[in-house]
Amino acid sequence: MTLRARITGTGMLVPERVVTNDDLAELMDTSDEWIRQRSGIATRHYVADGQVPSELAVGATRNALDAAGLDPADLDCIILATLSAEADFPGTSFFLQQRLGVEGLPCFDLRAQCSGFVYALSVANAFVRSGVYRRILVAGCEVHSTGLDFSTEGRDVTVLFGDGSGAVVVEANDEPGDTSEILEVRLHAQGEYADKLWVEAPSSAIPRRITPELMAEKRHFPRMQGRFVFKHAVTRMPEVLLETLGAASVKLEDVDHFLFHQANLRINEYVAQQLEIPPEKCPNNIDRFGNCSAASIPMLLDENVRSGRIERGQLVAMTTFGSGFSWTSAILRW
Ligand code: UT7
Repeated sequence: MTLRARITGTGMLVPERVVTNDDLAELMDTSDEWIRQRSGIATRHYVADGQVPSELAVGATRNALDAAGLDPADLDCIILATLSAEADFPGTSFFLQQRLGVEGLPCFDLRAQCSGFVYALSVANAFVRSGVYRRILVAGCEVHSTGLDFSTEGRDVTVLFGDGSGAVVVEANDEPGDTSEILEVRLHAQGEYADKLWVEAPSSAIPRRITPELMAEKRHFPRMQGRFVFKHAVTRMPEVLLETLGAASVKLEDVDHFLFHQANLRINEYVAQQLEIPPEKCPNNIDRFGNCSAASIPMLLDENVRSGRIERGQLVAMTTFGSGFSWTSAILRW
């Protein structure tokens, strides 16, 4: 019998410091009106000096473990998705493992940018279904704020991103009467467009990896062709969502909650409109947190589970698009 995998606990943590659009307008030529109108973002959270990614991840993890009624020692594996690692190596997951005090527990990072959480969820699902592990922590964690260009030159990217972490516990479900399950996950990528949204350096393709010249050219800051990314996002997201619903034999109208990656409220509104999904089925939190990349989906999930909006037995669809390009969807019976 193939085992089924279900999410048994969710958690999130954002740093305390709230940064408004007006705060950013003091550093660069931008405005509250432009940012709200183009992206739907009002505030984002930034880490305090010295606050590191694994600190956020451990907070989100403890909340997810509490919700699942588990201790760190109950876990079999940790998978952490991030594009803003604490060190070049080892992965952030190793710092998280140390903070959890679970020596010997396998852990690894997964790099698929804003699609990273769903990629990690698919790995956890496969581990559980194949009987390799029974209890897996899947986390998304980003500290963007330490790597952004706060001059006017970087404004198109900088205003969009925030710091935060979300986590879930994925467990084997072998109770016959319990319908809770990750039903289908579909993953896609197109490396052809890697440089349409990327951070080029530090890079092992460059002698000494990072140089004063390279930094003077600002090649260590994220660069994005915004309109190009937007156009692909609004095409790929409906495409992969419909593909995954088809694979799960679930009708679009039967889904109770659509959790879209929080990159731009306009992208999500456009996708929902194209598919005629009512707005009340599409919760967003980008207005408060901005784009937290791999952390966005688990943060949105946690908020909606804790508020009671997502109830056991309901159908949840997650859909992402991000750098790489990468795009994914997952359909879950909650
Ligand atoms: O999570 C990964 C996926 N990322 C995304 O999905 C992001 C996708 N792209 C977008 O969300 C949008 O393209 C943006 C929000 C980034 C930009 O919105 P846009 O409507 O595509 O604007 P634009 O890039 O075409 O720029 C319009 C104008 C330009 O000025 P000119 O050339 O018309 O004079 C920009 O220089 O807006 C200017 N601009 C800004 N103005 C004030 C760009 N950024 C800003 C800013 N504040 N922060």
